[in-house]
Amino acid sequence: MAEIGKDILKAKTLLEQGELVAIPTETVYGLAGNALNKLSVAKIFQVKDRPQFDPLIVHVPNLEFAKSYVYEIPSKAELLTKHFWPGPLTLLLNRKSTIPDLVTSGLDTVGIRSPDHTLTRELLTSLTFPLAAPSANPFGYISPTRPEHVNEQLGDKISYILDGGVCKVGIESTIVGFENGRVIVYRMGGLSVESIEKVVGKVSVELNSSSNPKAPGQLRAHYAPNKKIILGQLQDLIKKYDSKPFGILSFQTDYQSKHQFILAPSGKIEEAAHNLFEGLRILDKMPVQTILAELVPDIGLGRAINDRLKRAAAN
Ligand code: TXA
Ligand code: MG
Repeated sequence: MAEIGKDILKAKTLLEQGELVAIPTETVYGLAGNALNKLSVAKIFQVKDRPQFDPLIVHVPNLEFAKSYVYEIPSKAELLTKHFWPGPLTLLLNRKSTIPDLVTSGLDTVGIRSPDHTLTRELLTSLTFPLAAPSANPFGYISPTRPEHVNEQLGDKISYILDGGVCKVGIESTIVGFENGRVIVYRMGGLSVESIEKVVGKVSVELNSSSNPKAPGQLRAHYAPNKKIILGQLQDLIKKYDSKPFGILSFQTDYQSKHQFILAPSGKIEEAAHNLFEGLRILDKMPVQTILAELVPDIGLGRAINDRLKRAAAN
């Protein structure tokens, strides 16, 4: 098992030696390595068992730092960083050759983000290189929102997990690209489309799929627990699956079942985002065969939650 602790200096030293360290962010835990060191980056793919066509996000302390690694920054990109960095927003920007091909799977753009977590910000500020970090889960499985989640799955492959507690937002960053002055959302995430539109006006949303070369990692089936997820109206599903052991993932309703997880007792969509991956993990461990789930209200972060639920159910 990996050590879980708050020692930033230890994390820094390991990263400088080319090792990987799991780091907390406001979205999910990341599996971090020196983005400029090809061997470290190769280790990330190995530890996650991730296909090399799926590019990594590079984490920086601020926009100034990012400028060493990307060419022109579109004015709308800069504007978005002013409003939302540090925060759950990843920008696809034209990369300089200082970023190894392996990080971007050969694409001309690199995903850059400045995470909002005190420990990780201190760590990033103390380093001379940026950190490549995908979510710290085996490829295709649910993203980790606690240090223990990382330890359960990758604990025998890394030595240190920087303990930043439970991730505040709980769902990965929103990924945004720029084309001729247009803003395009490629992955819905912890920053809502509505919030982005308030700053830069109407955006296009181009999600999916393995056939969309812009977001090669946005595979249709992803974020999945081991148990089968069935999406629909819970009332109907519960009747239909009556004879089989099932778990229930509901938005707000209490079904009085031993095997249920309620995403948002308060009815707040942010609470549902915060709890989503934890809920899926808990249900995955229960003695049930299937997980019956319903979509949440499709506004704000609800769109990102529904996107995850649909991908999880596509397995
Ligand atoms: O919140 C997050 O973004 C977390 C934390 C750790 O920062 N990271 C994360 O990384 O979710 P990952 O690797 O699990 O998901 C990154 C997604 C992948 O779907 C990948 O395909 C896409 O970002 N991506 C990265 N670079 C890209 C690029 N240049 N063009 C298109 N998509 C890119
Ligand atoms: Mg991931």
